[in-house]
Amino acid sequence: MNLFMTTGTYEFMKKMREKHPQETMVLMQGENTTLLLHETEGKTIFQTPRRYEVVDGTGTFKEKGFFVMNHIPVTDEGRPIFEHRFKNRAGAVENEPGYVAFRVLRPVDSDTYVVLTEWESPAFYEKWKESQAFSKAHETQADAPAEKRQHIFSGSSYITMYKAKPEEK
Ligand code: HEM
Repeated sequence: MNLFMTTGTYEFMKKMREKHPQETMVLMQGENTTLLLHETEGKTIFQTPRRYEVVDGTGTFKEKGFFVMNHIPVTDEGRPIFEHRFKNRAGAVENEPGYVAFRVLRPVDSDTYVVLTEWESPAFYEKWKESQAFSKAHETQADAPAEKRQHIFSGSSYITMYKAKPEEK
């Protein structure tokens, strides 16, 4: 499965989404931009998208709710190690209240993986972040020696957040 993202003005993104009602597309509003996501086995109509392959995931996107993307820069040699860790992941997030969907996205044109989660509302995400399920899912990381972590990661991770249904804003 492939996942594509593109950003632009709300009107333009909305038009593109409306032109392709048969496709799995999700329109979402960030702080400064509107993002359109396209998940497909095939190609995308986006002209210059950020391209990803779906490595792992559960759940189906809903066009309502709250999206959190964790962007994680990974070195070339770190890729298999990073992906292996997700193969052995806790698998706990899907049992959390308010959970909607989750994807691990392998970048095609960059070094930055994206871990995308969708929640029914921001409060559910905040609750999960404070939960044991979250610390358990990330505990191997805290345990790993610093040199090992540096070898996998090529930069600092950062988070972006989006709201679905921007027209209801
Ligand atoms: C300090 C930044 C973070 C890094 C470097 C990171 C990296 C990782 C890694 C390598 C795993 C696989 C399990 C492991 O080996 O630990 C994992 C699990 C996961 N991470 Fe993160 N993570 C971070 C913070 C976050 C945040 C803020 C989110 C919110 C979107 C998130 C979402 C997830 C999810 C959903 C899983 C799978 C959990 C499960 O299976 O229950 N991570 N993360």
